[in-house]
Amino acid sequence: MSLVCVADYETKAKELLEKSALGYYASGAGDEFSLKLNKNIFQKYRLRPRCLVDVSSIDLTCKVLNKTFEWPLGVSPTAMQRMAHPDGEVANARAAGKLGSIFILSTIATTSVEEVAEKAPNTTKWFQLYIYKDRIITENLIRRAEKAGFEALVLTVDAPVFGARRADMRNKFELPSHLSLKNFNGLFANSLNGDSDNEISGINAYVSKQFDPTLTWKSVEWLIKFTKLPVIVKGILTKEDAILAKNYGCSGIIVSNHGARQIDTVPTALEVLPEIVKSVGHELTIMADGGFSNGTDIFKALAMGAKMVFVGRPCLWGLAVDGQNGVESILRILKQDFEKTMRLMGCRKISDISKEMVVHESFYAKL
Ligand SMILES: Cc1cc2nc3c(=O)[nH]c(=O)nc-3n(C[C@H](O)[C@H](O)[C@H](O)COP(=O)(O)O)c2cc1C
Repeated sequence: MSLVCVADYETKAKELLEKSALGYYASGAGDEFSLKLNKNIFQKYRLRPRCLVDVSSIDLTCKVLNKTFEWPLGVSPTAMQRMAHPDGEVANARAAGKLGSIFILSTIATTSVEEVAEKAPNTTKWFQLYIYKDRIITENLIRRAEKAGFEALVLTVDAPVFGARRADMRNKFELPSHLSLKNFNGLFANSLNGDSDNEISGINAYVSKQFDPTLTWKSVEWLIKFTKLPVIVKGILTKEDAILAKNYGCSGIIVSNHGARQIDTVPTALEVLPEIVKSVGHELTIMADGGFSNGTDIFKALAMGAKMVFVGRPCLWGLAVDGQNGVESILRILKQDFEKTMRLMGCRKISDISKEMVVHESFYAKL
């Protein structure tokens, strides 16, 4: 049977992945309420298409941080991609480049910044940063990403500790022994190093030992001074924090609940975009991720003011099914579906997408 949508790839990937890796990739925090919401939220918003517009030729290009992209979808940072396929991050980054998408490399990747840069030279790459207790480790990472040609730093601000992911606890999740965290070769930080007093999952124990939980907006100020790259903060869910990001000089934010992996019962990006866009939309580049799997999902976020959206798990499913080809298929499916949505909505270019084209389901209930 042909795999024709993200959900088909997800089903297939779930048959192929080893239990512990699947648990790590698929799980959310707690009861996984927000994880389900990330998917279901898109159905709570309805599209209002316009008819009789000449859509014979359309333009999906968009501009983010002064650079033009083929279309407004990129690849979110996800850790340890070589559990899905031996080519891991390289395959994902190459596929992103082929489809004109930004690739964000995770700090805790199973391929180094240098290798991804060398093997995916034609991809626009951003580096996702976790700040380590050992600041020298962090400073080295930043300099290496700058040197390797990464074009922005994406500081994840929603992870002073990792959320309670029950699958990882049940599986006592560890990185398979043939893999390591390649950005830290030769350092203690290169493996998950077993459990700790408080954490059963290897990844949570690692984060508690290594990540700096004392970070504040002062750390963002430090980072902006330290690097020559634009700094984007990822994991913002309130207008209060969006305003702080703007005031501290960030170049953009990714509105994200971290794939529902941090705190359960937080809202989705789609729900908080309106308050954030209203407060800082004119001054800051606003992007979003979490649960996107259809062209209509992308359209809805753009109508609500996001300039770019990202997908995490869909690319992991593609990677697990068929390496680079699988990720290319996922991105192609999303691109074609988004293009079709644009035509059917009567939009010829991204700036034709308007706020009025998406309404909450309650709009019709009131009529
Ligand atoms: C397996 C997995 C690993 C992740 N690793 C990271 C990471 O290393 N750094 C980070 O900032 N976010 C990480 N995230 C969160 C993603 O960047 C992104 O916010 C989320 O996956 C988007 O939701 P989606 O998977 O539904 O598209 C991870 C998510 C998943 C599913």
